[in-house]
Order: sequence, then C-alpha cells, then structure tokens
Amino acid sequence: MIENYSSFIKNLEKTSLNEWIPKLEKQITHAFSPKTNGHYDRWNQAWELLPNAKPSVIHLNQSTLEIGTCADLTPEENKKLHNILMSFHPWRKGPFSFFGTEVDTEWRSDFKWDRVSSHIKPLKDGMILDIGCGSGYHCWRMLSQEPKLIFGIDPFLAFVWQYLVANKYIKSDRCAVLPLGIDSIPSILPAFSTIFSMGVFYHRKDPIAHLIQIKNLLRPKGEVVLETIVIKGGEQDILVPKDRYAKMRNVWFIPSSDAMRMWLNKCGFRKVRVVNETVTSFEEQRKTEWMKFESLKDFLDPKDITKTIEGYPSPRRAIFIAEKP
Ligand SMILES: C[S@@+](CC[C@H](N)C(=O)[O-])C[C@H]1O[C@@H](n2cnc3c(N)ncnc32)[C@H](O)[C@@H]1O
Repeated sequence: MIENYSSFIKNLEKTSLNEWIPKLEKQITHAFSPKTNGHYDRWNQAWELLPNAKPSVIHLNQSTLEIGTCADLTPEENKKLHNILMSFHPWRKGPFSFFGTEVDTEWRSDFKWDRVSSHIKPLKDGMILDIGCGSGYHCWRMLSQEPKLIFGIDPFLAFVWQYLVANKYIKSDRCAVLPLGIDSIPSILPAFSTIFSMGVFYHRKDPIAHLIQIKNLLRPKGEVVLETIVIKGGEQDILVPKDRYAKMRNVWFIPSSDAMRMWLNKCGFRKVRVVNETVTSFEEQRKTEWMKFESLKDFLDPKDITKTIEGYPSPRRAIFIAEKP
C-alpha cells in the first residue's frame, strides 16, 4: 500500500518534514501489514475489485463528495460496486457518491464543515494536519483551497482504506490520510499552519498534553481548530463520566466551553474564541445502510433525549479557534 502514498511523500521531500520520510515509510508499511490487522486481506481483496475507471467528474467542494457518474462504468461494474464499497463498512464520515452509488454515511460531516469553514484562516499554501480525520471527508473539503499538503491521520485502518478508495480515483498528491495516531507524529519542527482536532479531545486521557502537543506542532501564528463535546456551565465545570458516556468507553474529559477556553489560554494560545455550539441532531448522526451499528438514537435516553442513556447531558459540540503566538 505504500505505493499509494509515493507522490504525497515525494512532495514531502520539499518541506521541513523531509527528515521524517524514512520513518514515515516504515510506519505506513507496518500499519498495512496483514500481521498488524486481521482485516487486511478482506480490505485488500475488495480494493483489487474496484473498477479501473476514470471518473468524468470530481466535485469535492460540496456536501456529497462526487467522484464519477454511473455512465463512467459498465452496467456490470455498476452492479458490483455497491457490494465492493460495502466491504469497507462502517462508513461513518461522509457523504460520498462513487460513480452514482450514494454512500450515506452515519454522519453528515458536511454539517460540521459548514459550521467550521467560514471561521478559519485561509488554507491556501498551508501545511494542514487533521488529527483523527476518519475517512478524510474534511481533508477533501479543504483541498479546494489549495493547501501545500494536507496530512489527515487516523489509526483506525478501515477509515484509511475509505480514503484510499476515494484517492484511487481523485489521485491527489497533496492530500493523504496516514494510518497513524497523534503520538506517531514527530515534533521535528513546528511545521503546520493549521491543525484540526475534531472529535478527538474527549478521547484523550491527558487533555492538557493534547493542547500542548498541538501547540508544539504549530508554526508561530498557526491556528488550531478544535471541536469537542462540551457541557453547559462555567470555567470550573468539567464532566468526567464515571464509566461510559453515550455508550462510549473511552471518554475522559468533557469541559464547558468556558473551561475549554480557559485551558487554551492557560496553554499559551491567543485569540481564543468559541465560534459555534450545537446540540447533535438525529439528522446529523444516524444509523444508515452504510453504518449498521448503533448510532445517536441508541445512545440517548428514549424518554428524554436531552440525556444520554447513562443520564449525562446529551452531546453538545463546540468549535474553538485559537492562535499560537
Ligand atoms: C469522533 S471521530 C472524528 C472524526 C472527524 N475528525 C470528525 O470530526 O468528523 C474520532 C476519530 O479519531 C480517531 N482517533 C482515535 N484515537 C486517535 C489518536 N490517538 N490519534 C488520531 N486519531 C485518533 C478515531 O479513529 C476516529 O476516526
């Protein structure tokens, strides 16, 4: 699979991160080893079955990312495509349309992008890091602004394969989803002009360390765009779920917006602001044909949807933007 990253890595040679390349190649090779992930053979077989077609259209700056039309495939290929794409289930972040096959993902990730995009600095010629990017949906949305390079990272390999499916046709040498967790990014240099951390913060055991790690990776005047679940409350209000939160095991800290703002300031960020707070709706997150597991409706108290099944406030998400001095 390393060959699918070769043109991106070539572009990396021209940047301040070039000394990372030998290690990065090893990290990618390791992540895609059949020994590292038991599902590798299934995904690889499905990948081989994808049609070798040239998409007549590629539209990435719109809600549904559109790659090709059904007229680009033979009737036989059209018939098979649905099942091949389904091999990459669960499709959580999207939506996508591959040659007319609509992949209606669990999340309408376009809703989040619409809340974020008008508030951020222009991405043109920037070095962008999207921590926990899933399928890379937001990375693709960023591409139309022509950043120098977009590094999506996600350690969950199913989502990285979903990026590879899209890039089989888009063939971008500027946008990659790398099979890495945040702790695998070397802080060689403060290399990035914008760092997105969306939907990741509450999964971190050490939230302050996460903010400092982001700050260390940012260039001076670089921007962090942080999106996380928050509770209502003041500067000292933080929810630490006793066990699960909305059935998720790995949720550690859910601050109020004021607490989060204070933490960002305390970590040395400037121009800290909250640009949006939204309660997650059933329109934005729901079970679909392409994500058959439980979703938001199953995580909330059926008698009172303002509460999670455990009795905590239901997910409300806030977007924070701040600058490294
Ligand atoms: C809730 S999703 C958010 C996806 C996307 N950023 C969004 O906002 O729609 C969190 C993602 O973070 C990824 N993740 C979990 N641990 C991570 C880590 N240590 N480093 C980077 N990403 C991680 C998960 O695999 C998952 O895709």
